[in-house]
Amino acid sequence: MEQCVNALIKELETKILTEEIDSSYDLKLGIKVGVDLGTSNIVIVVLDKNDQPITGAMESAKVVRDGIVVDFIGAVKVLGRLKAQLEQRLGIQLEEAATAIPPGILPGNIKVITNVVEAAGFVVTNVVEEPVAAAKVLAISDGAVVDIGGGTTGISVLKNGEILYSVDEPTGGTHLTLVLSGSMKVEFDEAEKIKHQRESHPLVFPIVRPVLEKMAEITKRNIIKDVKQIYLVGGTSCMDGIEEVFQKYTAIYTIKPYNPLLVTPLGIAMYAK
Ligand SMILES: Nc1ncnc2c1ncn2[C@@H]1O[C@H](COP(=O)(O)OP(=O)(O)OP(=O)(O)O)[C@@H](O)[C@H]1O
Ligand SMILES: [Mg+2]
Repeated sequence: MEQCVNALIKELETKILTEEIDSSYDLKLGIKVGVDLGTSNIVIVVLDKNDQPITGAMESAKVVRDGIVVDFIGAVKVLGRLKAQLEQRLGIQLEEAATAIPPGILPGNIKVITNVVEAAGFVVTNVVEEPVAAAKVLAISDGAVVDIGGGTTGISVLKNGEILYSVDEPTGGTHLTLVLSGSMKVEFDEAEKIKHQRESHPLVFPIVRPVLEKMAEITKRNIIKDVKQIYLVGGTSCMDGIEEVFQKYTAIYTIKPYNPLLVTPLGIAMYAK
C-alpha cells in the first residue's frame, strides 16, 4: 500500500481521536463533507478543498441493517448529534454533504439514505457508490474492493475506475461477534468488546477464523479470474491477520490499508462537490 495513502488515513484517525482543529485551516476557502451511514457506524468526515482531513466524528449505531435504514428517527438523531458536534468544533455550519450507497442497493433504499442525511440538516449534493469512494482513497482503478462491515461483505470488482460488478453478502463483523459470544458464553456486547481488544487477539482469532475463511471463500467465488489484487476495507478488516486468510484462500494478492474502517468515509468526503 502506498505510504501516502496510509498517512492520509492516519491523519484522519488522529483528527477524529483528538477532536482538535488545526488553526491554519481557512474554512472560508471551502470544505468537503462526507456522510457514511453504515450498519454499525455512522461517520462524518470533513476535508479541506485539497482533500486533507480537517476533522471527523463517528458513533456506533444500530439504525441501518444490510444497507437498509431500519430506524429512520434514530439515524437522523445520531447524524444530527454528530453534525452539531462538528459544527461546534469548527465554528461553522455544515451545509452540504456527499453520501454513499452500498453495492447492489435497491433504488427505493437510495432515497431513504438521502432522506436521513437531509432530515439531519444537510443538503445532499451527490451520492457515490461505497466501493468507488474506497477506490479513490486507495488510488486504484482496478482490482477487487472487499468491504467487510458490520452486517455485510460487499465484493466489488473495479475496472478503469468503474464497478464491473458487485455482490453484497450478508456476513460481516456481527457474525464474528455472534460466534465469539456463543463460544465464550458471554453476551453479544461483551463479545464485541473482547473482539476489539488487541490483547484478546490470540484467543479471538482461532474462534472467528472459520468465519473469516468463509468470507474469503465467498470472495473467491465471486471474483473473476483476471483480478490481481484484493483490497480489504471496512471495520472488520481491522482484525489482525485477516489479510493472510484472504490471500491464502483466494490465492490473490491481498492488501490492507491502515485503519480500513475509515477508508470509505474518507472517500465519500473526497467525492463531495
Ligand atoms: N479493531 C477491530 N477489530 C475487529 N473488528 C472491528 C474492529 N473495529 C471495528 N470492527 C468491526 O467492524 C464492524 C463495523 O465496520 P464498519 O464501520 O465498516 O461497518 P458499517 O459500514 O457500519 O457496516 P456495513 O458496511 O455492513 O453497513 C463491526 O462489526 C465492528 O465490530
Ligand atoms: Mg460500510
